[in-house]
Amino acid sequence: MARNRFSTFAWGVFAYGVLVILWGYFLRISRSGDGCGTDWPLCHGALVPQTPAFPTLVEYAHRFSSGIVLLLVAAMVVWAFRAYPRGHVVRPAAAVTLLLTVTESLFGAFLVVFGLVADDASLARVLIRPFHVTNTFLLLGALALTPWWASRPPVTRLRLPQGDTLPVLGGAFLLLLLGWTGSWTGLANAAFPAESLQGGLTQYLHPEHFLVHLRVTHPVVAVAGIVALAWLGLRFRSRGGILAPLGLALTIAAGLQALVGPLAVLLREAISTRLLHLLLADAAWVLLLFSAAVLAGEGTRTIVTGPGGGSSDSGGEGAGTGGAGGGTGGERVGPGGGPDAGQPGRAPRITAG
Ligand code: HEM
Repeated sequence: MARNRFSTFAWGVFAYGVLVILWGYFLRISRSGDGCGTDWPLCHGALVPQTPAFPTLVEYAHRFSSGIVLLLVAAMVVWAFRAYPRGHVVRPAAAVTLLLTVTESLFGAFLVVFGLVADDASLARVLIRPFHVTNTFLLLGALALTPWWASRPPVTRLRLPQGDTLPVLGGAFLLLLLGWTGSWTGLANAAFPAESLQGGLTQYLHPEHFLVHLRVTHPVVAVAGIVALAWLGLRFRSRGGILAPLGLALTIAAGLQALVGPLAVLLREAISTRLLHLLLADAAWVLLLFSAAVLAGEGTRTIVTGPGGGSSDSGGEGAGTGGAGGGTGGERVGPGGGPDAGQPGRAPRITAG
């Protein structure tokens, strides 16, 4: 029961975290990053800004909502360490989430204090963007994987099957590369907005800044990215079990980007299209990580013994060995070995092999 409550709470933290991340995108897209000047943690020298302008409201709301994420994630770590035994993957997942939440806040503070926000197109900002995007992606991943593992049968060893290692790591790298190049495209759009497509082309031929050239890298990488991610999704789908819907959703998210990405170029100022583009990128990332988590737990054989003496197998997922909808194991747990198995005082016996 305690475990069920934990996973509900962790899914809630994930959902709230996604909203805060989206608000952060909105903050950047609406060029409100300097809404509190270069003050941090104060805002224009005050704890609560007086008669705030729109950018100040956006920036202040972002700071406030991310402060709440920090508190929620800290509570999640404490709860995870109380509810799960040593060696359970939920513990490090929650701890890493906290670490990445702290580093994300430090990135935000650094950008504000050094004025690397709004229309700033300095080399420092161009260089720091990929690191910030990487931290955001990793944070999103940790936020998602904590409740995922909390609501799945326990795994004690995570290792990608040999044939899947390269495709999964390649897909993750491509998504990160799309995040890095996309962040430069977004930066170039903010600092050197083009009036029209033709204006953008003229800018490219007579660039006033190297960012204008960098802007083009993203759509080029995106072509390879869309094909590779759609293929990866179909590959997961063919494994069956829970990998089937995850893979299908990944293929759909990648396919939609082929429509929404160009729309973001055509409707340059349409904030909703740009937000949708980022939401789809985040969805693809989370779906890839969920699929990787299923694959990495595959082949891990878990024997859970409850106090009632019953025992059960929960084998891997998909790929014929079972799992939710996939055959021999997955969700099944024996008498007393249900979702609460492994709480302090009645720790499960878990063997991996
Ligand atoms: C799977 C495919 C794609 C993924 C995962 C992806 C991902 C991203 C990400 C993560 C960002 C923003 C990074 C940030 O600033 O935080 C971005 C920005 C952008 N992307 Fe993509 N992208 C994809 C395909 C495309 C395509 C095909 C196009 C256009 C042909 C495109 C056009 C843009 C534009 C214009 C921006 C800047 C939006 C802004 O001003 O904020 N993307 N993309």
